[in-house]
Order: sequence, then structure tokens, then C-alpha cells
Amino acid sequence: MRLRGVKNQAEKIRAHALVIDNPTAMKGQWQQFFDNNNPIWLEIGIGLGGFIAGMQQAYPHINFVGLEKYSSALVRTLRNFPAAVANVALCRDDAANLTEIFDTGEIDRLFLNFSDPWPKKRHAKRRLTHRNFLIMYANMLDPAGEIHFKTDNQGLFEFSLQELVENNWEILYKTYDLHNSSEVENNIMTEYEKKFSDQGVPICKLIARRIII
Ligand SMILES: C[S@@+](CC[C@H](N)C(=O)[O-])C[C@H]1O[C@@H](n2cnc3c(N)ncnc32)[C@H](O)[C@@H]1O
Repeated sequence: MRLRGVKNQAEKIRAHALVIDNPTAMKGQWQQFFDNNNPIWLEIGIGLGGFIAGMQQAYPHINFVGLEKYSSALVRTLRNFPAAVANVALCRDDAANLTEIFDTGEIDRLFLNFSDPWPKKRHAKRRLTHRNFLIMYANMLDPAGEIHFKTDNQGLFEFSLQELVENNWEILYKTYDLHNSSEVENNIMTEYEKKFSDQGVPICKLIARRIII
């Protein structure tokens, strides 16, 4: 989500209490950073940040890390956090660098919400559920850790199911219509989810866990 730049966005990001300046320096240090033993849940591609803002209120005993590739999106996320929040940290970085940011087993749950579909076959490696990313997720997630993935894009959903199954992930849950399923009760909507569901597009969701051999 590359958006038109906000004035002084670099300074606004650097000055914000929740933003981690150098995420790679945090590898292996996240639990100490939050200063508690609560689980750590990561969202990759936070966009405008509505999901992580809603989640941290709903789950005050969870620590949240939000990763976003573009400053233009991150600076808008910061508007959701006018004051410091103890259980949230935000990073401007690329998911391609995950192994530099998180140590083995450091994350308890991963959220991928409406990830870019990259519909052209030649761009498949950029999809955040491509097997190259799954290898990194398997490393940073606790053995009991889960991926929670939502999308409006059925093509990306099918691709993701196939990548997961072919790479030793168990599908614990899947629906092609989240908003008419039992899972909707605890669902916190993202900005993209609101936009698509307002247009009548059904939302797909899956939950997956690595099969430990
Ligand atoms: C389609 S938007 C969805 C935003 C938000 N999750 C939502 O559901 O409203 C995808 C977001 O993922 C971010 N993104 C894409 N590739 C990324 C990557 N490799 N690392 C981190 N963020 C990424 C984009 O910049 C964008 O903000």
C-alpha cells in the first residue's frame, strides 16, 4: 500500500513512541522489550492499522508487533495510536527480512490480512503465502503457533491453501464466507475487509499450524 506521502512522514515515524527504529537489533529481544511473558502476535502488512489497534484493545494481555513495508502507510497507522500503548510495537520493514528481525520460536501467532495478491504467475514469489515466506514463518513461530490469513481474493486463497498443505502445514480452519460463519463472533475487521464486505464480496479465512514431524 504505497500512498501519497504525508508531510514530514520520516520524522513523524521516527518520533513516535511505538515505532522501533532498528527492528533487526530486536532479534531475540522481543520478550524483554515488552517486559512480560505474554504471547507475541505479529501482523505483516498492517496498512492503515485498524486491525492491530482493535486487537490490542480486545486482547490487552497479548503483545502485538506490526510490520509494514511502506512509510506512507505506517505514518497513517500512527493516527490510531495518539498515546503510547504498552503492548504494541510498530516496525517499518519488509517481510523479506523476517529472519533478521525475529529469532526461532519468538512469535506465537501471525496475521496476514488482505495481503497483496500479485495475480501474475511471474510474481508468485512476492505473495506472502509463497513457500519461501512459509519457511521463514515456520522458523519464527513457536511450534504451536498459528497463521491466521484473511483475503477477499479466492485465487490467492486457493494458492495459499495449496502452498500450506504442500509444505507441511495443517489447515485447522477454513471458510469462504467468514462473515456468515461461526468465526465472525471474534472477528476484528481491517480497512480492506470493511471495503470489500461493503461491496458484498465474501471474505475467506484460514488458520494453519505447522505439522511437526
Ligand atoms: C492490500 S494492503 C492490506 C492492508 C491491511 N492489512 C488491511 O487489510 O486493510 C497490504 C499491505 O501489506 C503491505 N505489504 C505488502 N508487502 C509487504 C511486505 N513484503 N512486507 C511488509 N508489508 C508488506 C502493503 O504495504 C500494504 O500496506
